[in-house]
Amino acid sequence: MIIAIDGPAGAGKSTVAKRVSVALGMTFLDTGAMYRAVTLAVLERGVHPSDAKSCAAVACELNLGFDREGRILIDGRPGEPGIRSSTVTLNVSAVSAHPGVREAVVERQREIGKRSPGIVAEGRDTTTVVFPDADHKFFLNASADERARRRALQEGTLERLDEVRDDIERRDRLDTTRAHSPLKRAPDAIVVEADGLAVQEVVESILERIRGGAPR
Ligand code: DC
Repeated sequence: MIIAIDGPAGAGKSTVAKRVSVALGMTFLDTGAMYRAVTLAVLERGVHPSDAKSCAAVACELNLGFDREGRILIDGRPGEPGIRSSTVTLNVSAVSAHPGVREAVVERQREIGKRSPGIVAEGRDTTTVVFPDADHKFFLNASADERARRRALQEGTLERLDEVRDDIERRDRLDTTRAHSPLKRAPDAIVVEADGLAVQEVVESILERIRGGAPR
């Protein structure tokens, strides 16, 4: 079974998808972590994020995997916390916009999907491009204000809330307007509005839909 959850930066997708996967005993696939891993390697190798060809070459060369807890491994080494650094966050939209990078990463995601009896994938294009035939599709949404507050709380950067919101809005713009696989709601995805809801309430509402077998 494949469950796909997409949505903008900071909507709480990772936490929600992780909890849903644990509740259902399924594999968790954090697709954003894979683009972050490619970006980290691009920066470490001195490749310019706007160099499409070299970025794609890095994406093809890297061995991306996950440990039992669903944390990314880059060539067998833990990618956390490096993939969450502000430099990676600043450059990940540019790197992930290259079609060659996306092709390489999407291929791995589909392989992981094939290997696992059950998977909960989250990202920007898991409902539209990676797993268009997913059994359940969700679009997790929240206002930019709520997402900025959530992210700043998580990162302990509440004093820089305006900056965090600017970054989120900048990434929204880049992620929704790029030519290849932009973030958009699949017509058959169920929209979950997270504003004002606790994470666990979002998780329960998604689990209810899945257990209730609501067709997409
Ligand atoms: O979910 P996140 O913030 O960790 O994702 C980091 C970036 O990766 C995001 O700004 C856009 C890109 N991304 C993507 O292009 N496609 C995905 N399926 C997931 C993430």
